[in-house]
Formats: sequence, C-alpha cells, structure tokens
Amino acid sequence: MKRYFIHTFGCQMNVNDSLRMSEALSKMSYVPTPEPENADLIILNTCSIREKAEDKMLSALGRYRAVKASRGAILGVGGCVAQQEKDKLLKKVPYLDFVFGPDNIAKLPEVISRVQDARERVVETAFVDSEEYVFPRADAETSRGKVTEFVTVMKGCDNVCSFCVVPHTRGREVSRAFPEVLLEVADLARVGLREVTLIGQNVNSYQGGISFAQLLLRTAEVPGIERVRFTTSHPHDLSDELIEAFRTQPKIAPHFHLPVQCGSDRILKMMRRDYTVVQYLERLEKLRAARPGIAITTDIIVGFPGETEEEFEMTLQLTEQVRYDNQFSFVYSPRPKTGAALREKDWGPVPHEVKVARLERLQKVQRRISGEYTQAQVGLDVEVMVEGRSRYDATKRFGRTPENRTVNFDGDAPAGSFVTVHIERATPNQLQGKQVAVLKEPTVAPLPVELTVPLHVPAEA
Ligand code: 5AD
Ligand code: SF4
Repeated sequence: MKRYFIHTFGCQMNVNDSLRMSEALSKMSYVPTPEPENADLIILNTCSIREKAEDKMLSALGRYRAVKASRGAILGVGGCVAQQEKDKLLKKVPYLDFVFGPDNIAKLPEVISRVQDARERVVETAFVDSEEYVFPRADAETSRGKVTEFVTVMKGCDNVCSFCVVPHTRGREVSRAFPEVLLEVADLARVGLREVTLIGQNVNSYQGGISFAQLLLRTAEVPGIERVRFTTSHPHDLSDELIEAFRTQPKIAPHFHLPVQCGSDRILKMMRRDYTVVQYLERLEKLRAARPGIAITTDIIVGFPGETEEEFEMTLQLTEQVRYDNQFSFVYSPRPKTGAALREKDWGPVPHEVKVARLERLQKVQRRISGEYTQAQVGLDVEVMVEGRSRYDATKRFGRTPENRTVNFDGDAPAGSFVTVHIERATPNQLQGKQVAVLKEPTVAPLPVELTVPLHVPAEA
C-alpha cells in the first residue's frame, strides 16, 4: 500500500476537491497518512485568491522537496495556482512531477500512472466549460462519522469583479442538475449527516433546473437533514424568493454570508460589484424582517486602489451600521490579469503600511461587535448540533448554533445529536457552556467520540 498526503489551501471548494482526490486515490489503493514525511505521494491543493496564499504554498512546496529527495515521493500541485500557472509551474519548480487543474481531478489516477510508470512530467489544466461537465459524485462512505458536509451545486463564476482571480482559475459558471444534488444529499443523510452546506462561487445564480431558493427548500425536505446552509452569495442576485425561503423553512439555518467588499459606492463601481450600499442595505433589511435574529457575516477588502481615508471610513461606518456577526477582512492584493491589477497604477496604489493600518482598525471594530453578540448569549439556552469533541479540550464537546456560532461545552451527547447548551462564558469567536438537555438523537449509531475529529487536514487561509 502506498501512502498519500494532501495539503489543502483556500476555500470550501478546495476542501471539497481534496475529498474527491482522496476518493480517486483510495481506488488506486493509496491510503492517507497524516505525516507528509511518510508519504509516497504529496499533493498541494492550492489557492491563488491573494498573494499570501500563493507564497504559503511555495514555501510548503520547498519543505516537501526534502521528502522527495529522501524517499522518492511524487509531488503534484492542483487547485487554483495550478490552473493559473499551468506548465509554467513545472518550469519554475524543477522537482515538481505534475500539475492539474480543478476540472481535472477525475484524471488524477491517469496522471499519477503516467508519472510513476512513464516517468513523465504531466500538465492537465484543460477547462471543461460546458453543461457536459460531469461533477465528481461524492462517495457518501467517505463522510461516514461526520455530521456536516459540503455539497457542490455549481462551479466557476461569470461575474467580473475587478479584484478577483476566480473567473480565471475556475472558469465559467456551470450548475449541477438538481436531481444529482438531491441524490447526493440523500446519500449523505443515510450515513448519518444532519447538515449540508451547498457550495459554489456564486450560488445565487444557480441554474440546475430549479431556482436556488427551490433547491434549498427541496434539500431541507430530505429525511434526516436538519440544517441547510450555503455559500457564497453575490448581493446583486439575492432574490426575493430566496429571502422568502428563510421565512417559510426553519431548517434553512439563520446565517447569511453576504460579501459587501467595501462601504463606498465609488469603490464598489471600480470593483464592478453592480450594487450600491443602499441597495445592499435594502436586501439585508428584507432578510432580517423575514428571519429576525439572522446572523449576517461578510467579506471586506481594504486598500483597494484609489481608496481614500474617507472611503475607508465609510466601510467602518457600514460595519457599525450593519453590526455584522463576523467579518473576513483582507488587504487588497493585486492578482494576475485582473482589471484592478491592470489599472492599479492609474487609480493609485494604497501603500502597504496604510492598508495594514486600515485592516487593523477595521478588525478592532469588528472584534468589539462580535464580542457584543457573543456576550449577549451568556445566560441563554441555545440549540447546538454536536459535531464531535472540542479541539481545545478532549473532555469537552464541540458544535454550532443555528447562527453558526461555535460552542465548546461540557456534555456527553454523541456527534449527530442536537442538544440544549446553557451558555456560561463567551469570547468574540466562541461560546462555552454546559449541556442541559438532549433534543434529538443521532440518526445512525454514532462513532466513538475519539474518532470524530476528521483526519482530513483543514485548509489554510
Ligand atoms: N485581494 C484581497 N482580497 C480578495 N478577495 C478576493 N480577491 C481578493 C484580492 N485580490 C477576498 C474577497 C472575497 C474573499 C473570498 O476574498 O473579499 O469575497
Ligand atoms: Fe477557492 Fe478562489 Fe482560492 Fe481558488 S482562488 S481556492 S476558488 S478562494
């Protein structure tokens, strides 16, 4: 038996793609190892959304070079950097054996055979940009023992946000036919999963035979499924029908991740985001009316080319006004071939120190607001879906509230249960408390709790 190690960077799409790679490898009689030093095959599943992600992957690649030298491991790069750099990556990294894009995961066995048997260096980065694209079907057995899983509903992105490299690395939008999505959800529910997150770069423009709102409603009706989540949305196609689904179907979890990117209309226009701050706020208001208490999170970029101090302050103001549950904020990073990178000189790059100082100011405001939200939970009884044992303390359990707040608590309910937790303490990013009641038992015999932390290495940001 040969051993493999996959190092995953980036978003949920990549985490999901790594699982599909694992499935392909297990059919070739490879087994996973948590230690790259013992691997015969190392794959880096890469992200190119910001320069930092690319740098991290290059330094990891450097570390794995030693494993190749000591035991002749095969080294491959997949994901978004692979798609962006293609054969250039083989030239840049002389010890690399193969490069494959996100659309070529099904070819992995063939690629590895060519490297192993014919000693070739292989590049497979063709896009499959059409309805003929076959979404790799998840093997539900891979997910047995887990409670929550991602399900791909579409790939690619047809938007033209001027900062974003995704249209170059993930190609045009292709939706997965809805019966296929529902079959996958049903298979997952049969092995005990209670929650699914429907994922795609831009799920609101889903076109797999029914609307995205309909897809959520149908997913919520799959027996065994108690919570349905989704990510990521673009504010400009957030439909009234989707908002209505939040009003009528309580299994659609009360959390909406709605990236705004910034609080200035002028910058939004330069970003080609296609909405104004007022339009964005109007969507949120409707959403909050449909589902009071819904948690709102967002993504922000600070220091976009040409952003003035006043414009940055509009982002601070918007943060205070919306009172986000949480924000993922980044300094602008120019990406190859994107509109903003090409025009950065004309628009006026924001100096690095200014970007970093703005990011710190924004994050401080958000930390305070997040802390206010979590403090307000202290003393309350909340519903928690148990996912396994706590990462911090093996005697405790870990789970999430419907709003997606993380909870570490004293209790004995197995993964897959729903419990009531009395919240005793809070930090800005987690709640702590004790189990006071069991609401629902798992649907299948639970695994021993020691086995509930997945072997799979989580993605690095
Ligand atoms: N620079 C900084 N942040 C970026 N994002 C996307 N592209 C860039 C970039 N070039 C952020 C956006 C997006 C999130 C996934 O990453 O906020 O919503
Ligand atoms: Fe995901 Fe985008 Fe990063 Fe690719 S570039 S891994 S799609 S976040």
